[in-house]
Amino acid sequence: MTSTVEPVGESLAGLPRFPMARAAGCPFDPPPTAVTKQKEAALSRVGLWDGSTPWMVTRYAEQRALLADPRVSADINRPGYPLQTPLPPGGGSASFILMDDPEHARLRRMVTAPFAIKRVEALRPAVQTIVDELIDDMLAGPKPVDLVDAFALPVPSLVICELLGVPYGDHDFFQDNSQIVIKRDTEPEQRVAAQRALLGYLDELMGEKIAAPADDLLSGLAERVKAGELTRSEAAQMGVLLLIAGHETTANMIALGTLALLEHPGQLALLRDSDDPKLVASAVEELLRYLNIVHNGRRRVALEDIEIGGELIRAGEGLIMANDVANRDPDAFPEPDRLDIERDARHHVAFGFGVHQCLGQPLARLELQVVYSTLYRRIPTLRLAADLDQIPFKHDGSVYGVYELPVTW
Ligand code: HEM
Repeated sequence: MTSTVEPVGESLAGLPRFPMARAAGCPFDPPPTAVTKQKEAALSRVGLWDGSTPWMVTRYAEQRALLADPRVSADINRPGYPLQTPLPPGGGSASFILMDDPEHARLRRMVTAPFAIKRVEALRPAVQTIVDELIDDMLAGPKPVDLVDAFALPVPSLVICELLGVPYGDHDFFQDNSQIVIKRDTEPEQRVAAQRALLGYLDELMGEKIAAPADDLLSGLAERVKAGELTRSEAAQMGVLLLIAGHETTANMIALGTLALLEHPGQLALLRDSDDPKLVASAVEELLRYLNIVHNGRRRVALEDIEIGGELIRAGEGLIMANDVANRDPDAFPEPDRLDIERDARHHVAFGFGVHQCLGQPLARLELQVVYSTLYRRIPTLRLAADLDQIPFKHDGSVYGVYELPVTW
């Protein structure tokens, strides 16, 4: 039987297997094979677990061009789509992240307003309070402490719960199931069960919001369900997407970003000692670029023949845009392997590009700005309480990060 798990880095019919392994001792750098492939060409073939051989797009310019190209589809149910795991019976997820326009645009439009920059900016004081209170608790408690558990996960989970109208008391349930959904090596039955559990949970919540609307995003969707603009199951599916995307990604950026800064003390000192919000904002962009935590590649399939980067992509062929290496493309970022919080990295592709570019990016930026400008100032002696080689990295996650980060001060 074909293994449904994607073992990292083995070769398949002479092609490098995707996803690829990072080098031991270089936890912040993309896999060396992908870097070599980028030097050789903009596109090259890779092997997937199911024997398919999609294109891996490694260079920044070609990735942006393809991600903005309407001849490229994000529909997971189309033949040729480079699947990460087998499709469950009945087809893949009904989330708009895996749909094409006009269906994608219809659904995305219904949730764009709460993520608009001005609306998100209004949340800054509330996010600052959450961050300060969690730091108060850490300082009052025993040390060392696991920063993931005590801080990195609670910050975005509290924020997204407040925004969506999800009870934070259920955080163990949704955090655990989200982990199962996004782990690369979860068995398909387990993944389907976790997705069903989350969907059932959101459907129940949607029922409550329909009966008794409050002032939150899910209640806004409930109003649309009542108006017949959206089905209840579409609304619940959107809730699952927003809940998972809203906490897991940012949590990993908080923990991994902190680790990267602790390993670059000069950069950490620069950030800690500055009260310039522009430097904080630029540190956030640089860490997003440098770490590129969503490291599974943006997956697409060509709808028509496309000539690009000296190659001909045939209609029906799969594409994997390896954002992690594109964010280290020397043509887009000079000295790309250097973490430099003063550089202008705003054009990175850590949030993707094109119509599917991250909806929650204003919120993620705000949370990271508040965290990075507060944590290291309030705990200036923050340091690792374990050796780097003892830190459990999420090599098996669709979102990269650390499972635990023991710190002390
Ligand atoms: C540092 C944190 C984050 C990172 C690195 C990140 C990264 C990404 C990336 C790379 C995509 C593009 C997917 C694709 O093209 O296939 C994406 C899409 C998306 N993200 Fe984020 N994200 C983050 C935070 C958030 C937050 C806080 C939310 C809030 C709910 C969110 C909601 C979404 C949604 C709904 C989409 C789908 C957009 C669409 O298909 O139109 N993300 N994100």
